[in-house]
Amino acid sequence: MKCTMSLFLSGAMVASMAVGLGCNGTADSGALGADAATVDAVVDVPVDVATGLPDNPATPDVISGVDVPLVEDVPTVPDLGHDSGPVPPGCSSGVMWTLGDKESPLMHPGGDCIGCHVTKKDAPPLQFGGTVYPTLSEKNDCNGSASVTVEVTDSKGQVVSRQTNAAGNFYLKSEESPTLVFPITAKVLSKGQERKMFSPQSTGACNSCHGSPPIAGAPGRIMTP
Ligand code: HEC
Ligand code: HEC
Repeated sequence: MKCTMSLFLSGAMVASMAVGLGCNGTADSGALGADAATVDAVVDVPVDVATGLPDNPATPDVISGVDVPLVEDVPTVPDLGHDSGPVPPGCSSGVMWTLGDKESPLMHPGGDCIGCHVTKKDAPPLQFGGTVYPTLSEKNDCNGSASVTVEVTDSKGQVVSRQTNAAGNFYLKSEESPTLVFPITAKVLSKGQERKMFSPQSTGACNSCHGSPPIAGAPGRIMTP
């Protein structure tokens, strides 16, 4: 049985695959109170439960055991409404941050804000921080998309909205209210469209997963809807 199809599938498909594969509670869109085990099941690299070996979702093997009609419906290419193939990262905006660690809300777009800040005594602690881009694959320090709304919901149902700044960056400092209770989920909204992250995350270091390259099953950069 395979329980971690999420990385190559849209949220809606995750839900349907989870049902089809018999994985309990995987990626339920209302799973704010999901426990850590559920989170891990979604984030982990896919592993064939039977063999314990890493699984390659691009091979037909991954859908063995699934009903035939569902197999035919599953695309082998990620279905996120955009091309998420192995394209080398570019810089859509054409504008790079060149000022190193100079303190600024516009600093290091695409970088792991929290991962760096925790190592620097002058850097403010953040509850979450990241960058929204127009595509899935963008270099570190490349400016992203301005004026996109990022909405984070914590495990207590507290909701925080932030607008991305001129660099595409968004963040909530630790000194700012509310104090979030992890895990959190997130969505990005723009012009009446949205993209939602279904799996609850135990860190606000958004770009650590949505990096270049992405890790932990993330589809790529956090992308404008
Ligand atoms: C490689 C390390 C590094 C990365 C990556 C990084 N920062 Fe920083 N950041 C710093 C340091 C160091 C400071 C403090 C600089 C100082 O005080 O001179 C700082 C300061 C800040 C400040 C305070 C500036 C102010 O006006 O209050 C903000 C806001 C900030 N960073 C946001 C971010 C965001 C958002 C990201 C991710 C998109 C990010 N940083 C990524 C190192 C980093
Ligand atoms: C530990 C890794 C991790 C962290 C941290 C993380 N994400 Fe995600 N994100 C993922 C994975 C995996 C997916 C795909 C599965 C899903 O939707 O849950 C995803 C999906 C998304 C999507 C939907 C993408 C699409 O194209 O449909 C958005 C939007 C998103 N994340 C935003 C965020 C934001 C904002 C943060 C920080 C507040 C964040 N993520 C932190 C791993 C992470």
